[in-house]
Amino acid sequence: MSEIPIIIRFKDVSKSYGETLVFEHVNVDISKGEFITLIGKSGCGKTTFLKLVNALILADEGEVNVFGNNIKEVNHINLRRKIGYVIQGVGLFPHMTVRKNIGYVPSLFRHPPSNIYPMNKLLDMVSLDEELLDRYPRELSGGQRQRVGIARALITMPSIMLMDEPFGAVDEITRKQLQESIARIHKELGITILFVTHSVEEAFLLGTRVAIFDNHNIVQIDEPKAIIEKPANDFVKELIGKVGVLEI
Ligand SMILES: Nc1ncnc2c1ncn2[C@@H]1O[C@H](COP(=O)(O)OP(=O)(O)O)[C@@H](O)[C@H]1O
Ligand SMILES: [Mg+2]
Repeated sequence: MSEIPIIIRFKDVSKSYGETLVFEHVNVDISKGEFITLIGKSGCGKTTFLKLVNALILADEGEVNVFGNNIKEVNHINLRRKIGYVIQGVGLFPHMTVRKNIGYVPSLFRHPPSNIYPMNKLLDMVSLDEELLDRYPRELSGGQRQRVGIARALITMPSIMLMDEPFGAVDEITRKQLQESIARIHKELGITILFVTHSVEEAFLLGTRVAIFDNHNIVQIDEPKAIIEKPANDFVKELIGKVGVLEI
């Protein structure tokens, strides 16, 4: 059996913003095709972790390796072409139609990348109707906006998707539908997903592994079942008290 390659590796990564220490000596390997969910208290560094992967932020110490390369040594624009990013709060451009929003990233390149998904394929993947293409974000439901955000991140055929609390402001039924969609996309495309959520239930439902952040580090990263069976410390124990009712 061949080894599944490591797609993201943090080696002894530390990061502060001025006086604010966020990470201290973080070490983690993420394999190709994993669906990692990230949970932890507000301000524990989940967004920072995602930004360290696509080089929007650089580590103070240590090394972030993506696709086998130290990201300090690669072209960041090329890197980000292979990494879709659904930012916290969706962040659609209000003055652009759905079509323009989805096509935004390729439009930034002087030579638009040839390997992009055609619009109809994207709409299909995120289950959006073609008739929405000429609407503006304000004319969409919350769930539809989230789907546009996902389509926009997928257009360049990324191998990695960073998703920062993508299903925040939607009702429960919509959230369920979005969860089904992203699980299907993950399965169909075989991409690697890093998915931040404040819902412990969502983390344990979607993640092939769950990464729990606390105390300037990842305190535990493992399969949902393994975490429930053997929480690493009291913080994790308390956190997963909330998913006790879930059948995993
Ligand atoms: N650009 C920044 N400048 C200064 N401090 C920041 C900046 N971005 C984040 N922080 C601080 O770093 C910590 C981690 O932030 P963040 O990664 O956004 O956490 P999370 O996404 O888990 O809520 C927080 O204390 C936050 O206030
Ligand atoms: Mg955040």
